[in-house]
Amino acid sequence: MARLKDKVAIITGAAQGIGAEYAREMAKEGAKIVIADIDNGEKLENEIIKNGGNAINIATDVSREDSVENTVRLTVKEYGRLDILVNNAAIFGTLKPKPFLDITVEEWDQLMAVNVRGAFICIKSVIPFMQKQKYGKIINIASGTLFKGSPMLLHYVTSKGAVMTMTRCVSREVGDDNICINTLAPGYVMSENVIGSESFDESFADFITQTRALKRRQLPNDLVGAMIFLASSDSDFMTGQCVVVDGGSVNH
Ligand SMILES: NC(=O)c1ccc[n+]([C@@H]2O[C@H](COP(=O)([O-])OP(=O)(O)OC[C@H]3O[C@@H](n4cnc5c(N)ncnc54)[C@H](O)[C@@H]3O)[C@@H](O)[C@H]2O)c1
Repeated sequence: MARLKDKVAIITGAAQGIGAEYAREMAKEGAKIVIADIDNGEKLENEIIKNGGNAINIATDVSREDSVENTVRLTVKEYGRLDILVNNAAIFGTLKPKPFLDITVEEWDQLMAVNVRGAFICIKSVIPFMQKQKYGKIINIASGTLFKGSPMLLHYVTSKGAVMTMTRCVSREVGDDNICINTLAPGYVMSENVIGSESFDESFADFITQTRALKRRQLPNDLVGAMIFLASSDSDFMTGQCVVVDGGSVNH
C-alpha cells in the first residue's frame, strides 16, 4: 500500500529512536522524508534510499527559528511541496528522573525551548506552505504521562501537556485552510535511548506493563499504524484530537 504516495513529510528528531521508525515506515508508504534532527541523520537517510525510498537529512535545531525556517525552505526547494509535519523532537531519552525540587530553572528552560517552543516554531514555519496548498497534516507527539501526572519528570510531563493543548488551539485556527493537527500520545516505549539509559530499570518497565490492558512492552513500531492514519487522508475529518497508543494503560 502507498497511503502517503508523493506526500512530503518533515519528521523532527528522526535521526534515531521512535522518530526513525516513523521515517522508515512512512517512506514505505510512499512519503518523501525530511529527517530534521540536531543529530546526524545520514545513516537513516542512506538506509531509506537503499530500500527504494526518498529521504534527505537536514541538520535542524527545532528550538531555533532560523534553523527551522532553513529546513522548511530546503524541503520545499528539494521536493516542491510540504504536506506533513511530525513534531517528534524532544528532550526525553537522555533525561534523568528526579524530584521536581531538584530541577533547576536552567534545566526547565532548556527542556521547554525544545519540547514546547520547538513544536510552536515548527508549526509556525510550515503553516504558510500548507495554507497555500489548502492541505496539511500535523502530528504533535505528546505522552501518556500527561494523563497520569507521572512523578519525577515535572518539566517533561508539563511540556507534553502543553503540546496537547497547543494542538487543540491551533486546530481551531487552521481548519478553514483544510489543515488537520492531532496529538499522538505514546506509552512507555522501548526506544534506543530508553533502553540505553543509565536510569533504565527492568522492574519499572515490568510495572508499567502491568498497568496495561495489553500486558507487554511497547515497541516503536506499535505507534506506526496510528501515525500513518493521522498523516494520511484516512483521518481527513479529524482534528484537535489526542490519540493514546499505550496498550490501554490510560483511558482517554
Ligand atoms: N520512548 C518513550 O517511552 C516515549 C513515551 C512517550 C512519548 N515519547 C516521545 O516520543 C518522541 C521520541 O521518543 P524517543 O524515545 O525516540 O526519544 P529520544 O530522546 O531518543 O529522541 C529524541 C530525538 O530528538 C532529537 N532532538 C533533541 N533535541 C533536538 C533539537 N533541539 N532539535 C532537533 N532534534 C532534537 C534527538 O537528537 C533525538 O534524535 C519524543 O517526543 C518523546 O517525548 C517517548
